[in-house]
Parts: sequence; structure tokens; C-alpha cells
Amino acid sequence: MAGTLDGQGAIVTGGARGIGLGIARRLAAEGARVVIWDRAPEAFDGSFAPALVSRVDVADLAAVEAGFAAAVAALGAVDILVNNAGINGPVVESWEYPPEAWRQVIAVDLDSVFYGCRAAVPHMRARGHGRIVNVASIAGKEGVPGISAYSAAKAGVIGFTKSLGKELAGSGVTANCIAPAMTETELFREMTPEHIAAMKAKIPMGRFLTVPEIAAMVAWIAGPECSFTTGFVFDLTGGRATY
Ligand SMILES: NC(=O)c1ccc[n+]([C@@H]2O[C@H](COP(=O)([O-])OP(=O)(O)OC[C@H]3O[C@@H](n4cnc5c(N)ncnc54)[C@H](O)[C@@H]3O)[C@@H](O)[C@H]2O)c1
Repeated sequence: MAGTLDGQGAIVTGGARGIGLGIARRLAAEGARVVIWDRAPEAFDGSFAPALVSRVDVADLAAVEAGFAAAVAALGAVDILVNNAGINGPVVESWEYPPEAWRQVIAVDLDSVFYGCRAAVPHMRARGHGRIVNVASIAGKEGVPGISAYSAAKAGVIGFTKSLGKELAGSGVTANCIAPAMTETELFREMTPEHIAAMKAKIPMGRFLTVPEIAAMVAWIAGPECSFTTGFVFDLTGGRATY
């Protein structure tokens, strides 16, 4: 059966596990050839056959540029870039937040998105086609107490994506982002039932987001049918954010 992404080349950052792995697997199921970038590629479980799995620290501009050249060599062309890699950082109030940790969270969650787009956009513009999907968060819209660096970085991803989408309008390249709420992943095993219940209570649909739901939305944004939307923030919050 023909997939919606047959013949396309895709990079998914932070694709060795979690949400990134779910996205990478779904893009591959739609027919894309997928390159995974991760700072810990050994975590990849082999659950599908990527074109390449590279060790890339997305907070390092030189590593991103080298990773992009390797991806082009492996794929021939890059049609899709999903900037998914991210870290939470410590949970501590802003006035106690260690400056080192602040810099690291901004580097991994925001600088990385700029670096990835900086590497990919000239290639995509030259081909007159491209789909960039940046993974932001509901935290970037609402601001979550205790994770101010993460919230600031994700708000930055949203602002950056809006600028980039406008810069690229008319080029055949779209840039959008997604804003997921808390997602059911292995991390849940480390949380108390009380904490999980408190988080669920914030979601009008009364349940958590799942990785396949994120992957399905990203596959659609990255595909040919999503042709007239750019610079947009796609919601994945079960009704929590209605803006
Ligand atoms: N899990 C959630 O509930 C949730 C909600 C909203 C947004 N998000 C966002 O989704 C994305 C993925 O989150 P996840 O829950 O799958 O996290 P995760 O920790 O399970 O996976 C993140 C992946 O990114 C990789 N990574 C981290 N730093 C990197 C770096 N510097 N260079 C390259 N790779 C790096 C890790 O090795 C890992 O494989 C993140 O951007 C996160 O902020 C997650």
C-alpha cells in the first residue's frame, strides 16, 4: 500500500526513544526513510529500520552541521525535519534556578531548534519543498511553575517557528510546531498515583495524551495534505489550551 510519505527523507532528533521514537516509527510506516539523531543512540530499540542512526548533540552547532551532511549523504535529500530532542531540567523555583542548568535547558530545547533549521532550510529552499515540525509544549503557552527554563525555551520555540514560517512562506517549505500536554511514557512509572491524578485533573478530556496520537499529528503536518498552514502551533492538550 502506498504511504503518504513514500520516497521522502526525514530527520527526527531525539528519535532513539520516547516521543521521538514514536514519530520516527510512524514516518517510516508512512514510507519515509528516516535518520535518527540522538545524543544516546544506543537506546534505540531496533523496532524499525532507519536509514541511519547518528550520535548528534543537537546543542552543538558543528555536530548538527556534520549530522545534516551525513543525513543528506544517506537519504539523497531531506524533506522533513522534526526537532524533537529536549530535556526538562531541574524542578526548582526561578530565583533558585542554577544558571548552568538554565543555559543547558535553553541550549538543548531552543538553540537546537535554531541550529537544526539553520542547517536544513537552505537545502529545503533550494529544492522548493520541506516540512519542519518543532516540538514545543503546553508549558510554552501556560508557563509551568518550577520549570521556568523549560517553559521559556518552549515559548521560544513557538516564537521562532512563527517567524520562520513567515520567512519561508512562498518557498514551498512550511514550519510549524506542536504543543503537547503531559504524555503517557515510561516516566509515569516513576510518579506517584497522587501526582498522576493531579495532572489528569487539568485535562478536560480526563485522560493523558499518547505517543501514537502525537506521531499521527506530526505525520500529517509533515505530509502533502498539510499544504496551507505554516507558523502555526498545533494543540495536543485534550481541551486544556483553547488558544
Ligand atoms: N513527555 C511529555 O509529556 C512531553 C510533553 C510535551 C512536550 N514534550 C517534548 O517532547 C520531546 C520529547 O520528549 P520525551 O518525553 O520523548 O523525552 P525523552 O527524554 O524520553 O526522550 C528525549 C530524547 O532526546 C534525546 N536528547 C536529549 N538531549 C539531547 C541532545 N542534546 N542531543 C540529541 N539528543 C538529545 C534523549 O537522548 C532522548 O532519546 C521533548 O522536546 C519534550 O520537551 C514532552
